[in-house]
Amino acid sequence: MNQHTEPEVTRRHAGDTESSRASRGWWDRNADDYQREHGGFLGDDRFVWGPEGLDEEEAGLLGPAEGLAGRRVLEVGAGAAQCSRWLASRGARPVALDISRRQLRHALRIAEGSPASPAFPLVQADAGALPFAAGSFDLACSAYGALPFVADPVRVLREVHRVLRPGGRWVFSVTHPIRWAFPDEPGPEGLTVAASYFDRTPYVEQDERGRAVYVEHHRTLGDRVRDVVASGFRLVDLVEPEWPEWNRREWGGWSPLRGRLIPGTAIFVCERG
Ligand SMILES: C[S@@+](CC[C@H](N)C(=O)[O-])C[C@H]1O[C@@H](n2cnc3c(N)ncnc32)[C@H](O)[C@@H]1O
Repeated sequence: MNQHTEPEVTRRHAGDTESSRASRGWWDRNADDYQREHGGFLGDDRFVWGPEGLDEEEAGLLGPAEGLAGRRVLEVGAGAAQCSRWLASRGARPVALDISRRQLRHALRIAEGSPASPAFPLVQADAGALPFAAGSFDLACSAYGALPFVADPVRVLREVHRVLRPGGRWVFSVTHPIRWAFPDEPGPEGLTVAASYFDRTPYVEQDERGRAVYVEHHRTLGDRVRDVVASGFRLVDLVEPEWPEWNRREWGGWSPLRGRLIPGTAIFVCERG
């Protein structure tokens, strides 16, 4: 694509392969800007569940931090692997997986800047085809990784189910489904319903040849619950973090103004049967 051509924004079908290819390209091209803009808020070794700033240290959704030592944890769509770094600092044995080489390059950059902290594997792969043996992990987690961007979330959830040991916990956060109905704007214009919450047609940015360069997929809250159950998990909790007083920072369409009125993040806490 000509770098100076703005992609066209549309709503249309986008399948698995096209969505994965778009995500890989978009995150490779935008990883540097993303880490520059959000890296400070995410911290090099914090585990942040979303733009509200709720972190795992406080939330304990994977279980008490004291219980993490020695646990094998898969982070799906890890980006620069900040969450895995926090897990490693608690004695866990994380593996950070992402489709984007450039995002993982930032994980290496952070690791090179703090050689004393524990090392862990970085794996470049698609969340829909996890390159691990069945039952190889005790826990799995994802903070906005992969799931908002894939056409077939059940495929990802089944893969996570396969690589977790029985009884293992799987916690993932995504954009709260209600946000789909509102313009993705941090100000008052983002408070008026502009689209149907029930319209699952993907949001697509495409180049001049009609190839998707960015895709987001919508699932309603009910769809997400059904996806979790259909993949063999038990839903233990659904956390909707409230916007805290201390957080004055906007992140795209997430802002204190909207965060005080409507949820921005949904965190699904699941257990493998
Ligand atoms: C919003 S970032 C989340 C990463 C990190 N938790 C953070 O907050 O920065 C989404 C990540 O999901 C990754 N991703 C998107 N589609 C993926 C797929 N199909 N398989 C694996 N990773 C994927 C992207 O490359 C990106 O690093």
